[in-house]
Amino acid sequence: MNLEMKISCEPDSIEINIQPFILIIFGGGGDLSKKKLLPALYNLFKLNKLNNESHIISYGRKPRTQDEYKNLVRTYVDKNSTGKKIIIEEDFLDKFIYLRGDSEKLEGIDKINKYICNFKNINKYQIIFYLATPPNLAKNILNLIQRLDLCDKPFKKKIIMEKPFGIDTESATKLNKNLNEIFEEDEIYRIDHYLGKETVQNILFFRFGNSIFEPLWNRSFIDHIQITVAENIGIESRGNFYEKAGVLKDIIQNHMMQLIALVAMEPPTNFNANSIRDEKVKIFKTISNMTDEYMSENFVLGQYKAGKINNKDVISYQDEKNVDKNSKTGTFFSGKFHIDNWRWAGVPFYVRAGKRLNQKLTEIVVTFKIPPLKLFGNACRDMLANELVFSIQPEETISLSINMKYPGVENYPHPVEMNFNYSKLKLVSITAYERLLIDCIKGDLTLFSRQDGIEEMWRILDPIVNYFDKTNFNLLDYPAGSWGPEKSKLLLEKDNRKWRV
Ligand code: BG6
Repeated sequence: MNLEMKISCEPDSIEINIQPFILIIFGGGGDLSKKKLLPALYNLFKLNKLNNESHIISYGRKPRTQDEYKNLVRTYVDKNSTGKKIIIEEDFLDKFIYLRGDSEKLEGIDKINKYICNFKNINKYQIIFYLATPPNLAKNILNLIQRLDLCDKPFKKKIIMEKPFGIDTESATKLNKNLNEIFEEDEIYRIDHYLGKETVQNILFFRFGNSIFEPLWNRSFIDHIQITVAENIGIESRGNFYEKAGVLKDIIQNHMMQLIALVAMEPPTNFNANSIRDEKVKIFKTISNMTDEYMSENFVLGQYKAGKINNKDVISYQDEKNVDKNSKTGTFFSGKFHIDNWRWAGVPFYVRAGKRLNQKLTEIVVTFKIPPLKLFGNACRDMLANELVFSIQPEETISLSINMKYPGVENYPHPVEMNFNYSKLKLVSITAYERLLIDCIKGDLTLFSRQDGIEEMWRILDPIVNYFDKTNFNLLDYPAGSWGPEKSKLLLEKDNRKWRV
C-alpha cells in the first residue's frame, strides 16, 4: 500500500536573502571539510544560496598554494557528488583563499586579520568561524579567534563547533566557558549533523502534525523503541581521532542522544529554537545515572575483527592505520535506556551503533503493544506488533506495519506495510550540512545544541565511559559484516523481543 503525498500548499522555498559572510574554516583540509563541508558549500552555490559577495577562508596546517587548495576543493566536491563527473565553476573556486597556520601559533590569525582588513565595508559581512577540528584543538583556536580584531572595526560574528563537543562533562563545561568569553550563546552553533537530516526533522512533524499518533505515543500503547545507527564502513583514515573517541563519544553521546530526545520529548509550545531545546533537555534529565551492575547486564561494547563486507575481505580494527595493536576502543555499542517520566515509565529504549556492521542502516522503530489476541484463535501466533519505522538511511522512508486478514476461509492475519518514501516526492531536498549551513547563515539555532543540552548528554555518557574504562570489562569481538556481538541480540531476547533487522 503506498501513501501518495498531496501537496495542498507549496512549501516555502529556501530563501536566504542574507548579508554576505566570510566563512573561516579551521581544519579546511581535514576529513570533515573534504567529505561534507566543501561538497555542501558547492551544492549551496549551485542552488544560488551563497551570497555572491561571500568569501571562504580555509585555514590549515599543511603548506599549500592557492592552486593546490583549489584542486583539493575540485577533487573532493567531485568525489562526493552523486552521479557523473562535474566541472566545478571558477566562480565557486574563486571564493576560496587558503591560509596556512598552526592552531598553537599566532602568526596564522595575523594572516587572517590582515586579509580581512583589506576588505572594503567590512561591517557589511558576518564572520562565521567553523571549527572542523578535533575537540583537543578547540581551546587554542578560540585563543586565536579572541585575538582577531579586524583592525578595530565592529563586526557580527558566529561560531560553528563540530561534535564531539569536549571529551567529557568537565571539558565541555570549560569549553562552554571559553566560548562564552568571546561569543554570546545565540552566536554559538554546536552542530550535530543528524539534526539536519530531513527524516530526523520529520519525527517532530510526524508526531505533532498528525493527531492519530500522538495520543498513542506513551507507555499505554508503546511496547518499546529501537534505535539503530549502523555503518558498514570502518574508521577509514580517522584512526587517531577514533582511538580517543570510540563509538561512545563518536555516536552515542551526540547523534543517538538527539534521536532519543526527538522520539521522547513532550510537544514544545512552539517551533522556536529555545522551546524545542528546552523539551530535549528535560528528556536528558530523565535519564538517570546507572549502576555498574545495571551496565554490566544491559550494555554491550564490542570491537570489529576481520570479516567480509559486500563479499570483500576487510581488516580488523586493531589492524587499521593509527590504531594500537592492543586497542580496547569500542567500535560497537548496544544498550537499554529508560526515560523516567510519566509518558515513558517502563518502556525500554534499545539502542545500538557500530562500524563495520552488516549494512548502513539508521532507523527508529516504534513497536506498539500487541492487541488482545483471543479473537483470532490459533492464528494469533502469527500476529505481529504494529511497527512504525522511521528510516533515515540508506533510504528516507516512514512505514507502518499493520495486520490484515489474509483472503480465504481461515482467520489468518497477514502483516502489510504502508510506506512513504521521500525520494518519490521528487522535490529538491538538501543534505544535512547544507541545511545547517543555511540555518547558521540565517541565524536559526533550532537544529543546534544548547550549552545545557550538551552538558546533560555528557552527564549521561561519563559514567558509561568510566564504567568501560575502569572495569576489566569484556570487550566483545564481532566479525566485520555481522550485527555486532551475540550479547547484543541476547539483550532483547532476554526481554522476549528482537531487533527488527
Ligand atoms: C559522524 C561520525 O558524526 O557521523 C562518523 O564522526 C560517522 O564516525 C558519521 O561515520 C555518520 O554520518 P552519516 O550521516 O553517514 O550517518
